[in-house]
Amino acid sequence: MQEFILQSGLRIPAVGFGTYNPKKQDMTELITRALRLGYRFLDTASLYETERNVGEAIKKAGVARKDIIIESKLWYDEMGYQEAKAAIDRSLTRIGTDYLDIMLIHWPRATGKFDEDWKSLDLETWRAMEEAVKVGKVREIGCSNFLPHHLENLILHADIKPAVDQLELHIGYTQEAAVEYCKQHGIQVISWGCLGRGRMDQYVGSDYVKELAVKYGKSEKQIFLRFLVQRNIIAIAKATSEEHMRSNMEIFDFNLTEDEMWFLQCMPETTWMGEHPDFAIPAKRSNPDQ
Ligand SMILES: NC(=O)c1ccc[n+]([C@@H]2O[C@H](COP(=O)([O-])OP(=O)(O)OC[C@H]3O[C@@H](n4cnc5c(N)ncnc54)[C@H](OP(=O)(O)O)[C@@H]3O)[C@@H](O)[C@H]2O)c1
Repeated sequence: MQEFILQSGLRIPAVGFGTYNPKKQDMTELITRALRLGYRFLDTASLYETERNVGEAIKKAGVARKDIIIESKLWYDEMGYQEAKAAIDRSLTRIGTDYLDIMLIHWPRATGKFDEDWKSLDLETWRAMEEAVKVGKVREIGCSNFLPHHLENLILHADIKPAVDQLELHIGYTQEAAVEYCKQHGIQVISWGCLGRGRMDQYVGSDYVKELAVKYGKSEKQIFLRFLVQRNIIAIAKATSEEHMRSNMEIFDFNLTEDEMWFLQCMPETTWMGEHPDFAIPAKRSNPDQ
């Protein structure tokens, strides 16, 4: 699979496997299947309660730890210096590993309030994450759902710059401002929601995507993923069906033309999940002590 290289030199596969598990499926089984099919980048979070499954699946699939990129995230109730330090250790224990490849702050504004308090809380959390890098518990630190003003707070004050930013990003919600900011600062963009959780079928322009799918002998979802990879964006796809898992990796044998890329990039911004990082109040973890 194609890889993207972070500024440190760490190589990340262009398509990762997502482990958010709202339907409480057997994630150990699904992740094991994904690993056996060739996925080598796993995205988890304390919020998802799938970190243990990641560890179990790696053992079950018999893949060497060094060959897998594991990314996890601190939830908003794990923010602050002491809280983040403890949360990183909990993630390591749950996964059963002595290092994480990437650790992210999951959400920039822990309170969901439009005040300035989030800035110091992000920085305190970041300090704990920087220390985790210095002692070898984490290789790369980054952000999730951070827009330029959230990233700027870290860029101006932190010792270690964010390596990645994981954002909701797909055709119909292309996050141009954040992508441009990340490009200027050498931050690798990662997309979540790249397949639209099944909501993208009715959006403006879907007929055109269907035509492209026919032209290239691919599915529409493969066009969504190819669009991201050609923009140098890593895609985190989640699938439970083996056919979907497989087809989400089969996007490296065709190229969208420049015209097609512009067309897809300029589609109306009509399809987003509805959770803005500045305003949404983050959900509570169902089991914070797990
Ligand atoms: N940082 C954040 O705040 C954040 C937020 C949300 C998600 N994420 C991460 O991103 C990952 C992906 O997001 P997601 O799980 O919400 O949704 P998603 O990957 O956008 O969509 C998953 C849905 O797409 C379907 N699908 C997958 N491949 C397909 C294909 N080739 N053709 C047709 N349908 C296909 C799946 O169906 P089947 O199950 O039937 O295969 C499933 O219903 C998460 O698991 C998580 O790791 C991060």
